[in-house]
Amino acid sequence: MPDLLALPKTELHLHIEGTLEPEMVFALAERNGISLPFDSVDELRERLEFTDLQSFLDLYFACSIVLRTRADFADLARAYLARAHAQGVRHVEMFFDPQAHTSRGVAVDTVIDGLRDALAEANLEWGITGGLILCFLRDLPVEKALETLESVAHRAGDLVGVGLDSTEVGYPPELFERVYRRARELGLHAVAHAGEEGGPEYVWPALEVLGIERLDHGIRSLEDPALVEALRERQIPLTVCPLSTVRLRGVDTMVEHPLPRMLDAGLLVTVNSDDPSYFGGYIGDNYVAVQQAFDFDLSTMVMLAGNSVTASFASDERKAELR
Ligand code: ADE
Ligand code: ZN
Repeated sequence: MPDLLALPKTELHLHIEGTLEPEMVFALAERNGISLPFDSVDELRERLEFTDLQSFLDLYFACSIVLRTRADFADLARAYLARAHAQGVRHVEMFFDPQAHTSRGVAVDTVIDGLRDALAEANLEWGITGGLILCFLRDLPVEKALETLESVAHRAGDLVGVGLDSTEVGYPPELFERVYRRARELGLHAVAHAGEEGGPEYVWPALEVLGIERLDHGIRSLEDPALVEALRERQIPLTVCPLSTVRLRGVDTMVEHPLPRMLDAGLLVTVNSDDPSYFGGYIGDNYVAVQQAFDFDLSTMVMLAGNSVTASFASDERKAELR
């Protein structure tokens, strides 16, 4: 098997706050005079053991408080993009969680400007293309999501799309119908996390009410044959994150991951990293992990990389270059 890290890739499910490495947590805390609830990098590393999605989210939001300035967001994204470049990424559609920052008094423009600084530099330096997907925190009130969207309406051209993340169970997608309608009016693409911890009943409304073009995780869709058929027939891409699902205990081990069954069912599956600094690997590491778990041949790995190009929101011209 050739070096899978060198295989050209497109990343479609990556939370930029989930690339905050423990060393950077401490460096930014010092730069910004913020005290942390952990004493050392080692102590923080020891906490990278999760029992479920919520146990991860608690740490993810606790670490995100070190991000305050445009330079912080630019440094965060620069560090991710350098690692992504080293693992073959040529196009990335990056999630960010503005409400995790605006709730602490950080302006949404500060977040967007910093992330775009780093994306522009990576484009110049390495030819990486892509953009930003603004995610709403689904466990906060819908009114807050609408306010967040209106606050960036004047710069919708700086965004690729909107998404939905954070705690899934108890917060069904249909709550966000108005938000997604407004996002469509603004010309934004629509994706959502669904079927990560929630069952198929969380995926159907994401498809039918929110009108998503891409499904983030979606692994529990397999429990409903009619849903699998709808996803297959419409060729809705699924952004699967194998190391994430193992670390958040969706499956016990990688060999039990449903990815091969999803491919056998004719689904448009892509491989991504989700929150690489928390889950033990960047996108290339996810490719290596699935290849090893399932003994996939090179043509399967190339097909997975090609699926991500198909599933991206890149222009047709750019897609042709990425293939
Ligand atoms: N925010 C960051 N990572 C997430 C995940 N895997 N699921 C839901 N929300 C998230
Ligand atoms: Zn995610």
